[in-house]
Amino acid sequence: MSPTTAPWWRSAVIYQVYIRSFADGNGDGVGDIAGIRSRLPYLKSLGVDALWINPWYKSPMADHGYDVADYREIDPLFGTVAEAEQLIEEAHAHGIRIVPDIVPNHSSDQHAWFRAALAAGPGSPERERFIFRPGRGPDGALPPNDWDSRFGGPAWTRVADGEWYLHLFTPQQPDLDWQHPDVHAEFESVLRFWFERGVDGFRIDVAHGLVKDPELPDLAGHDGGTHPFWDRDEVHDIYRAWRKVADEYPGDRAFVAEAWTDTPERLAAYLRPDVLHTAFNFDYLMASWDAKDLRAVIDDTIATLGTVGAPATWVMSNHDVMRHASRYGRNAARKWVANESYVPAGPADLELGTRRARAAALLTLALPGGVYVYQGEELGLPEVEDLPEAALQDPVWERSGHTDRGRDGCRVPIPWSGRTKPYGFSPETPDVPEGATAAPWLPQPADWSPYTVEAQTGDATSMLELYRAALLLRREHPALGDGGLTWLDAPTGVLALRREPGFVCVVNLSTEPYELPDHTSVLLASGPVENNRLAPDQAAWLAV
Ligand code: NOJ
Repeated sequence: MSPTTAPWWRSAVIYQVYIRSFADGNGDGVGDIAGIRSRLPYLKSLGVDALWINPWYKSPMADHGYDVADYREIDPLFGTVAEAEQLIEEAHAHGIRIVPDIVPNHSSDQHAWFRAALAAGPGSPERERFIFRPGRGPDGALPPNDWDSRFGGPAWTRVADGEWYLHLFTPQQPDLDWQHPDVHAEFESVLRFWFERGVDGFRIDVAHGLVKDPELPDLAGHDGGTHPFWDRDEVHDIYRAWRKVADEYPGDRAFVAEAWTDTPERLAAYLRPDVLHTAFNFDYLMASWDAKDLRAVIDDTIATLGTVGAPATWVMSNHDVMRHASRYGRNAARKWVANESYVPAGPADLELGTRRARAAALLTLALPGGVYVYQGEELGLPEVEDLPEAALQDPVWERSGHTDRGRDGCRVPIPWSGRTKPYGFSPETPDVPEGATAAPWLPQPADWSPYTVEAQTGDATSMLELYRAALLLRREHPALGDGGLTWLDAPTGVLALRREPGFVCVVNLSTEPYELPDHTSVLLASGPVENNRLAPDQAAWLAV
């Protein structure tokens, strides 16, 4: 497929906007659509192809928008549907596509359907859109089965009339029953609602979780075969129907799946030509900073997704995991594990983590396929690991009985400019009544002024300028984006990959300097290249 005819999603750099924390347009301390609109020139100059925007729908915010009360409304905290339409239009004028999140596994307990289900009572058709069951034990006082919620505690909550409902996440996020035709019809209609407003695709939340074993068996007896709720084959039929909806619209609308699967083969099944388009590559995100591990993940991904003709994607950070500058700043003795808040012992060495993050950016952006950039990684932001307990907002903190601090540390509002908080995150002249202005919803560290966009712009040694240069080259160089790669011989701990025409990326994950292979010029390097040698934890792009 030639680069001009290949659909955009095969090679796109998609920038993740965690809307609450990206840019606050009105001064209430929470990011919003007005903020995104005001930063489109920044995103354009950064050189990204599309934005994935975390849920912006009407929501009581029990899980910061992943609890949707109305899929056709924008939450007033973020703006209005009219503003969303303006954003889509303006982004398109900048050549940037818009990919919102969609949350089909569960709604909010404030969704009209769930309220109706509660009001209608046991045995009613309204309850059949969710997963209500009588309890076990005397008086039904025990949950219907032994499933736990992802955020701690049982996955069942009992309502006043004695029935229980399933929620794989918080009690405010009741799971929808995808055996019910109304659920299918409703989501297809919601997809159309937003496709008609010009969105270019959707990121599908918990894409692997929609279908449950109708028997709702205990997990205790689960023998490792088909899981009662994760990654069941039946989910693919839902997405086949969604694909047909997307294909009715012009302009390559695309889905990206958040699908956690046990193997790359299981992931590839979501990406067959009549199912979804792409999926996050969490194996890459979870790999440790180790040449062997990384190469194995890269090879497995490309080989397995290749069997269904799907492009690979590469992701290092998102709003659910510790930022990678902090992860790589620890010599993690083990791999990161999915859905587990793992904090390695001891503080991160941020100088080391930053050096590796720079090298990792060049590796990631050189790989074939698409890339996800999480807001703030282009600024080299570290995880904020010392948020005061009183400031923590992630439901994980409460649900875990204060044993797991949750995901707030990677969600702290972005520093844009200035030497003091809120570093340009909120406007100097608020657009809300005086009483409604507020500090950023999570406190920013006092030492973040060197991380601002303003401070890094024009500084050739900054993370931001490295990303800008790499994204520009990636866009212009015919070898980059979609395609294949070949590995070159290299010493242990060094990754050297070649892409055609004439491009080599080398990454030194060893502890010794590495003599660069023959090349005509160094296109870009993550640090100074002296005497033709690449220092440990550095990477370079070479013209050959
Ligand atoms: C995955 C999302 O990325 C996460 O932030 C959210 O809490 C869960 N899905 C539940 O919707």
